[in-house]
Amino acid sequence: MKRMWLRLSLVLVAMLAIVALAACGGGTTAPEAAEPTAAAEVPAEEGAAEEPAGEVSGRVGIVLPTKDEPRWVQDETRFREALEAEGYQVEILFSQGDSAKERANVEDLITKGVQVLIITPHDGTAAAAAAEVAKNAGVSVISYDRLIRDTDAVNYYVTFDSLAVGAQQAQFLVDNAEGTDNPLFLYAGAASDNNAFIFFEGAWKVLQPKIADGTFRVVNSSEAVALQDTLELTRDQQSAIINQVTTNWDFNTAKNLAEANLTAAPAEDKGDVFILAPNDGTARAIADAFATDTDVTSFLVTGQDAEKASVQYIIDGRQSMTVFKDVRTLVNDAIAAAVALLQGETPNAQGAYNNGVIDVPAIQSPVITVTRDNVQEVLIDGGYYTAEDFTGLE
Ligand code: BGC
Repeated sequence: MKRMWLRLSLVLVAMLAIVALAACGGGTTAPEAAEPTAAAEVPAEEGAAEEPAGEVSGRVGIVLPTKDEPRWVQDETRFREALEAEGYQVEILFSQGDSAKERANVEDLITKGVQVLIITPHDGTAAAAAAEVAKNAGVSVISYDRLIRDTDAVNYYVTFDSLAVGAQQAQFLVDNAEGTDNPLFLYAGAASDNNAFIFFEGAWKVLQPKIADGTFRVVNSSEAVALQDTLELTRDQQSAIINQVTTNWDFNTAKNLAEANLTAAPAEDKGDVFILAPNDGTARAIADAFATDTDVTSFLVTGQDAEKASVQYIIDGRQSMTVFKDVRTLVNDAIAAAVALLQGETPNAQGAYNNGVIDVPAIQSPVITVTRDNVQEVLIDGGYYTAEDFTGLE
């Protein structure tokens, strides 16, 4: 995975109006799709944001992967809040974990005349076909949070720093481990999601030296054990481990895998254990499984997304940390990029992600580790949630 980052900047968009899908009749001419642009050619101070460009009309459609995970409902809510605050209306469709439905959603939005598509693919590679349909119809494609792979039909990528997500999860485990031979259980996201690889890569770079020096002993992945002296993993090597410990981003898969791992592990592989869980939904499922095993004396478990249920778990001491990804920032970046594309301009970018075919210009946002110690400061004082959303906060 190739990344080039120069700097972060905010995109401010003024005096723009995206005309409501619902309110509009016939189609208008789509702007030319922006060519992928190397970051160095797009100074952060320039681009769409510099001066108010007058009114812009155009149609934007959004496709999110599933309503069944709070993470994506959070994105829908934040999109609606941001768009309604500006008086914009945009259609948001969910693919329900099904690439065929995702493609039908894309085709539906094209038929309705969208000129810019903001899409989080269910399966990053399968979504290439849908992106190509959009490109052929003159629609610009913004990959949102997850990268669409193996196609040139992606104009722009809006993402968090996913390498840092994995690194922060792993660093939390390392910071809380003493002595040697600590049992470590690894879990990963879905192999169809490019992010699962980046999260794992970020985590592995921090964990591997601590596995190699004996601080941790991997319990549930023979592939990870076989590679424990290798810091830089190829994608195939990452796949070998991920396929062995994947949760498929699914709570039940995570729960069943954790239970199977616990059944297979002898008592000496339990005691005080360390668990790399890839996100909050799977963390809660895995935590619940570990909490019921009488040979597990204590466990630390990671997460990501700062889902409300996991924030409550953290307050209650049932999940150890989460990585907060401020969806408000991602939403604003995506809207700014959509507006730039509607204006026929190149969205602001500070780097690029290679998707197997092209370097996709990208903007990425930082992430923050949240534990019980800073939950109030980061999430409540930061205005992301209110104290009333939780019980047990002092
Ligand atoms: C997202 C995570 C999310 C996961 C499961 C990833 O691509 O970056 O925030 O928890 O998918 O939906």
